[in-house]
Amino acid sequence: MRHDHLITSKQLSRADIETVLDRAAEIDADPEAVADRHANALLGLLFFEPSTRTKMSFETAMKRLGGDVVDMGSVESSSVKKGETLADTVRVIEGYTDALVLRHPKQGAAAMASEFVDVPLLNAGDGAGHHPTQTLLDLYTIQENAGLDDLTIGIMGDLKYGRTVHSLAYALTNFDTRQHFISPESLQLPREVVYDLHQQGEDTQIREHDALEPVLSSLDVLYVTRIQRERFPDEEEYQKVAGEYQIDTETLEAASDELTVMHPLPRVDEIAPEIDDTDYAAYFEQAHNAVPVRMALLDLFLRDHGTGTGTRTGAATATADAANGDGGEADE
Ligand code: NCD
Repeated sequence: MRHDHLITSKQLSRADIETVLDRAAEIDADPEAVADRHANALLGLLFFEPSTRTKMSFETAMKRLGGDVVDMGSVESSSVKKGETLADTVRVIEGYTDALVLRHPKQGAAAMASEFVDVPLLNAGDGAGHHPTQTLLDLYTIQENAGLDDLTIGIMGDLKYGRTVHSLAYALTNFDTRQHFISPESLQLPREVVYDLHQQGEDTQIREHDALEPVLSSLDVLYVTRIQRERFPDEEEYQKVAGEYQIDTETLEAASDELTVMHPLPRVDEIAPEIDDTDYAAYFEQAHNAVPVRMALLDLFLRDHGTGTGTRTGAATATADAANGDGGEADE
């Protein structure tokens, strides 16, 4: 995989995705083998929006590779409060670290910030835009539960503001999928995303619906999302759609026994807790898959940028690879 940064899932080919998922599976099977792989490497965490899973799983991933993190902390306690620009912030922190993870409320922020840095920058969510590292762990979970080809997936909830949805939909066009988008009319996928999906995937079928019921029985995967309250310009508009599209065990009576229910989390009230203990539920497994998948991503990006042992000189990359028995060859 040869990318300077990871900004959107649009940049990922099927081969890129397979490289990450294969590496994640290797790491999942034998995490001890990579325990010192990036000793001394430092990952900079820049989260301008709340996060639990994404931030903590990146931190866990870096530490499980032998490295560590430096965390900008909350916006309130950083120099952003004094009016520092994002461009200046990332330029400063890249000087301390080997890679950066950025979450920001503005769509396009990660793409802009990446133009100012040489270390790899991974987009951990830019407003209602993209969330490609979430997509890779979603794909890993789909692969484990349902397989990625000949897949029928329903993606339901806030398709307008849900960045995990945008990233997942683009990535799935690399595979043979039927994608059903289920939402209230006011929260449909942005038209430009629908247009792009039609352009990108010859093997992808796209359908939009306002109800789950007509498609439920055909689904291999149902990917449920939270209504993104914080992105609504108007609380009244949020209230009009809040609480729509909830599922419980009764809803799923019409589903296939093989159905896999996913959710990027956090959930509010979209999935009744009674589903948690059924065979449908894969959302906690999905959250746990964040660690091997983000370990794989960090490993690939740090190696491709010559920081195999966490030194900014990259001098020891080949040694680290050789020590792990793979001869130091580059991944495609
Ligand atoms: C998602 C996000 O931040 O976009 N959370 C996550 O990273 N797992 C989904 C959400 O907030 O609804």
